[in-house]
Amino acid sequence: MAFHTSHFLHGGDYNPDQWMDRYPEILDEDMRLMHKAGVNVTSVGIFSWVRYEPSEGEFHFEWMDQLLDRLHHNNIKAFLATPSGSKPAWMSRQYPEVCRVDARGRRDHHARRHNHCWSSPVYRRKVADLNQRLAARYMDHPAVLLWHLSNEYNGECHCPLCYESFRQWLRQRYQSLEELNHAWWSEFWSHRITDWELIDPRDHSIDGLRLDWHRFVTDQTVDFLKAEVAALRKGGAQQPVTTNMMGTFPHLDYWKIAPYLDVIADDAYPTWKYHDQQDRTTAAHTAFLHDMHRSMKGGQPWLLMESCPDTVQWAPVPKRKRPGVYRNEMLLAVAHGADSVCYFQWRKGRGGMEKFHGAVVDHEGSENTRVFQQVAELGQTLHHLPQIPGTTTPAETAIIFDWEVRWAMQTSDGPSRIDKGDPYLAPVLDLHHAFWNHGIPTDVLQSTADFSGYRLLLAPQLFLLLPGVAEALHSFVHKGGTLLLTQLSGVVNESNLTFLGGFPGNGLRQWTGVWAEEVDYLYPEDSQSLQFNNTSDFPLRGNFPTGPVVESLRAEDAETLATFQNDFLASKPAFTRRRLGSGQVFYLAARMPVSFYHQLAEAFRSSLGLRRSLETHLPEGVAASHRTDGNHDFVFLQNFTQRPHQIQLDQDDYTCLESEQRLPEGLHLPPWSTRLLQRPAR
Ligand code: GLA
Ligand code: ZN
Repeated sequence: MAFHTSHFLHGGDYNPDQWMDRYPEILDEDMRLMHKAGVNVTSVGIFSWVRYEPSEGEFHFEWMDQLLDRLHHNNIKAFLATPSGSKPAWMSRQYPEVCRVDARGRRDHHARRHNHCWSSPVYRRKVADLNQRLAARYMDHPAVLLWHLSNEYNGECHCPLCYESFRQWLRQRYQSLEELNHAWWSEFWSHRITDWELIDPRDHSIDGLRLDWHRFVTDQTVDFLKAEVAALRKGGAQQPVTTNMMGTFPHLDYWKIAPYLDVIADDAYPTWKYHDQQDRTTAAHTAFLHDMHRSMKGGQPWLLMESCPDTVQWAPVPKRKRPGVYRNEMLLAVAHGADSVCYFQWRKGRGGMEKFHGAVVDHEGSENTRVFQQVAELGQTLHHLPQIPGTTTPAETAIIFDWEVRWAMQTSDGPSRIDKGDPYLAPVLDLHHAFWNHGIPTDVLQSTADFSGYRLLLAPQLFLLLPGVAEALHSFVHKGGTLLLTQLSGVVNESNLTFLGGFPGNGLRQWTGVWAEEVDYLYPEDSQSLQFNNTSDFPLRGNFPTGPVVESLRAEDAETLATFQNDFLASKPAFTRRRLGSGQVFYLAARMPVSFYHQLAEAFRSSLGLRRSLETHLPEGVAASHRTDGNHDFVFLQNFTQRPHQIQLDQDDYTCLESEQRLPEGLHLPPWSTRLLQRPAR
């Protein structure tokens, strides 16, 4: 089921259940203020279980009936939540099995939220029962646009039921202990599993097991999510479903969750410092998340489900958003495919953990705050852009980001302990950053995605190769694609077992024409650099200092485009190219700083003739992105720096989307501002 909206959705998490008993006038005031702020959607009922069911089997829906009617009456839609993200205390008391167990075997007492066991039959039954009742009651309600499944699914449970379910999962995957033991290389330290019952997911010395546990937790979450949807459907609900993701949350493989959603939704809380250097990195990283969410359903628009119109109380330094920051942040999501701008939260509560979390409506309560005024202004802007929702961003470039690869690196001890927390993500973000800053539209894909249709595929640190990936990469190149591989590619298979016969493995050594014989790590006081030769037709020249990971590469059957300069690697290949079929594969043997990736992105752009959202030079911290409906392109020109910039437009056919006036070719871009442009589609 697809989800479409013909206008931007603007609103956010709305918790009138915190107010309705003792402050009923606040609910009326909310409607007045929502109207002023241009709010047309609210997420409701996310943490409302105890209000629906204050004691077992005693149900109250009248309050939600009234709330939905009131919203409808005011032309406001609802993302109606299933309340499984937080259970009532009576349930934890009556059925202790619903409470999660930690890795030390301690059953949780009733506290916080997102704290239930994924397997507990009681919890699943209770969730299904309530979901079904909600569906039956609200399947036809005109306010209900979408079901908001639970909230930010996360966490793992170590109870006996979950462990049993893990063992079943393993039996299915491996069929026999012999297969499992080989995949886990468990002869190491005498960890061979001789009985399924002996499997303990806490054994961190088996890296294959750790990888499988990550996969299992995702599968378990997907299974829980599917059961939630099944209950809604059983109750008669026809509306589409989503759940709010958390960017690149490390513990769930969102590629596995995406297929079960009708529309992707994400929660984004970038921290701005109002210092140019950090902010342009933050903007780039945020754009990466947005590109990933746009790519999760083949370019279909996604929903920004939560963001903060002000500042979050949980930031180490809750610095208020300076003028222009909020608007840029929200329009960055829109530029990258969001069809909504939604906030956590509509109104600050008086108590609870989030009473100081930014909101559209402050404790002061009026529309006269700076934050409210900004939200209302953006509401106006969005209201006047009905052309944009539903439009897409065609991309010729894609970058791989895959949780499987990330987990394989995280669960392996080594090859080094530098970057131990998340050694995979940083180089992916750095490379994407450069393409973003050049205005080159870039999709983000999992390693098993369909690569056809792309011209350039970036595969930084593709440490793990799932079955079929090596072949798919080969065929992508053969058919004319350009592939970039980097250091630490093709090291392990799907079980986290290293390939034999030289890296990059699984056949890559043969068709990339390189053998990465050793991988070297540098201290900050070490220096290594790579020098491009002046004779190649690849448009990159000069000398560039490397980052801390460098490989000793042998170009067995590849052209050397750059060589290392220092130490025992001096004059060895650092960057190679091999032509294959009608395409080419590049291998970069060093982790490099972002400044180098900027040069590399430009070299790929000019040599392949990749299209940019705006065919012009963009200063660092200024970004151009676009969406198109096929007749018109909508270009977002955004300045994330504190300096004004003069941007040269590439043609004279631009109009300003807001004023509808024709634009001069030299466009003034004030500090922290976004200009919305329109041109005939290209
Ligand atoms: C998450 C949750 C919200 C809220 C915000 C606060 O995104 O989904 O309920 O707690 O964080 O930033
Ligand atoms: Zn459990």
